[in-house]
Formats: sequence, structure tokens, C-alpha cells
Amino acid sequence: MGNLRAGILGTGHSYPKGILTNADLEKTVETSDEWITTRTGIKQRRKAAPGEYTSLFAVNAARQAIERARLDPSDIDLLLCATVTPDQILPSTGCIIQAELGANNAAAMDVVAACSGFLYGLALANSMIRTGQSRYALLIGAEILSQYVDYTDRQTCVLFGDGAGAAVLGPVEGNRGILATRIKSDGRYEEQLFSPGGGTRRPPTAETLAAGDHFFKMKGNELFKVAVRSMTDISREVLEEAGKSAEDIKLFIPHQANQRITDAVASKLDVDDQRVYSNIAMHGNTSSASIPIALDECVESGRIKEGDLILLASFGGGVTWGGVLLTW
Ligand SMILES: CC(C)(COP(=O)(O)OP(=O)(O)OC[C@H]1O[C@@H](n2cnc3c(N)ncnc32)[C@H](O)[C@@H]1OP(=O)(O)O)[C@@H](O)C(=O)NCCC(=O)NCCS
Repeated sequence: MGNLRAGILGTGHSYPKGILTNADLEKTVETSDEWITTRTGIKQRRKAAPGEYTSLFAVNAARQAIERARLDPSDIDLLLCATVTPDQILPSTGCIIQAELGANNAAAMDVVAACSGFLYGLALANSMIRTGQSRYALLIGAEILSQYVDYTDRQTCVLFGDGAGAAVLGPVEGNRGILATRIKSDGRYEEQLFSPGGGTRRPPTAETLAAGDHFFKMKGNELFKVAVRSMTDISREVLEEAGKSAEDIKLFIPHQANQRITDAVASKLDVDDQRVYSNIAMHGNTSSASIPIALDECVESGRIKEGDLILLASFGGGVTWGGVLLTW
């Protein structure tokens, strides 16, 4: 694809004001702050209020990313919204965001790859920019997972939170930019994390709604093992492709699913705690929004500096997984 590289030019994030703490959950399901903290690392998560929907937060995050990239919405020619919780089925949330931003020159669509959605989007935007089909791409990860969480299921309701993160990508010079991307899937593991009702296979009816078929169902234990294995493997693959080693990594930003998953992957990769970013205590698992929120927090706090080698890795429902290595 030639020597042209794509890099991240600006980032942003946004989330609802509402906070759901472990103490709040203790009141509604049989759980405890102690259990949630030791098993997941989560202390609180953001929860949208009734009437708040996915594109609201996506647009806020996107505006910030475009501004920080010193661009105008009309400069964007590709808009990808990674989400499994769209505003509605048709049109895509990407198109809703496109109109709201006035991104009049952009093709827009959604990327549906659950928690790997942002890294799937990075891989796609990277290819589009490197092949010259796009110049400036806006990639957003945005979720209102609380709409699909069964707040009587203690296994899932403690994990998920709401939010949005965004990044603007464009051509970069010098050593900066994306060095390697890899995305994978295995649909045989569908039932490890899925929402069985509400689509064409099991259309929504009064009965499916009453049965809660549209809520997320999860086999947490099995998914845990797949997550650790897939994120470790794909991280090694992108490092190898770029000719880098774990020692070269300045910051590892994994998808924020469970602190124990993060710790296990980091330990297998030989990346010490100081080089791993975690915000799971504050946000829980925000699916496709987790990596871009984390990225923007790192940019804002000065944790990422120009020239730093950053490793991103994710896994999620599908199952899907991905890895991206970039120089900031
Ligand atoms: C869900 C998860 C936190 C459960 O932790 P775990 O250590 O695997 O716990 P287990 O599932 O083995 O359950 C242990 C016990 O805790 C109980 N338990 C589950 N959730 C609980 C909760 N919120 N509070 C208290 N007890 C809970 C279980 O019922 C089980 O009880 P039992 O031994 O009497 O049967 C963990 O498996 C996980 O994070 N998996 C990955 C999920 C994920 O990342 N999903 C998103 C993908 S992007």
C-alpha cells in the first residue's frame, strides 16, 4: 500500500452524567461492592437517563475529536460509528451523526463488531486512508449498553456502562501512525455473549420482550478464557508484524472488560503495570467506546506523548478480536 501512513489526529469522549455505583447495585441484586471490586475491578459505571440515546454522546465526542484535529466536519470523507446499541435499526447511527455534525462530504455507516468495533474501524479507516480512498476519517465508538442490560442478572449488570469516544484519522508524516492492524472473528462462540431476540431470527413480540430476549446473555467464565487467549495472541501478532517487542511498548490500552483480564494479558505479554492503562473502576465495560475513551483520557492527562509506541487490543461478542500497534 505504499509508504503513506494513517495516524490519529484528534480524540474526544463524552458520557452521561448519571452514575451507577456498586452500592446502588447492592440494593437491587444479590451482590456486594467487595465481590464486584475483587472479581472485576469496577467501582462505578455511567448510565444514560431515559431519553438519552447513543448518537447524543457520539456527536459530542466527535465534535471534540474534529476540533482537536483542527479540521472542519466538511473535511471528513469517511464516518464510521462502531456500536451494537444503535439509535435505531434504520438509518445507521453513522448517518444520524453525519447529519448532526454537518459532515456533508462523508460516507457514513456503522461497524457492528461489539467490543472490537473500534479496532475493526481503525483497521478499515487505516486501509481507506493508505489506499487513497479517504483522506480524513472520523471513527466513533458509542454505546448505551444500559438499554440492553438485564438489571436482575447480577452476572452482567455489574459489568456494563455507557459512553462514547472518537478519533479523527488522516495521513501522517515521519515515523508516526499505524504500524500494524489485525482483526479476527469466530462466530461459533456466538452464545458466549449475545442478545437473542429483537432481530429477524426472533422478531420482537410482546412475549419476547416480556421474556427479556433482547437483553445481553453471557457465559462469563468461558468468555474470560477466550478473551485472555485472543487478546494475547493478537497482540503478539501485531508486534511481530511491525518488528517490535513488548519492551518497546510505552502504553498498552486493552479493551476494558475486567481488571483480571487486563492483568492476565499484560502478564502474558510481559508488560508491567506502569505501562498498562486502566479506567475500568470508573467506567466499567463500555464495549466499542472503551478504547477511544481510554485513548482520549490518556491524551488529556499527558500519559501519551509523541513518538510513544501504543498497543491496543480488544475482544468482544461475536466473538471478535483485534489488535492495533501505532506510534503516536
Ligand atoms: C462475569 C465474571 C466477572 C464472573 O467472574 P468469575 O470469577 O468468572 O465468577 P464465576 O462466574 O465463576 O462465578 C463465581 C460465583 O459468583 C457468583 N456471581 C456472579 N456474579 C455475581 C455478582 N455480581 N455478585 C456476587 N456473586 C456473583 C456466581 O453465581 C458464582 O456463584 P456460585 O459459585 O455459587 O455458582 C467474569 O467471568 C468475567 O469478567 N468474564 C468475562 C466477561 C466479559 O468480559 N464480558 C464482556 C465481553 S466484551
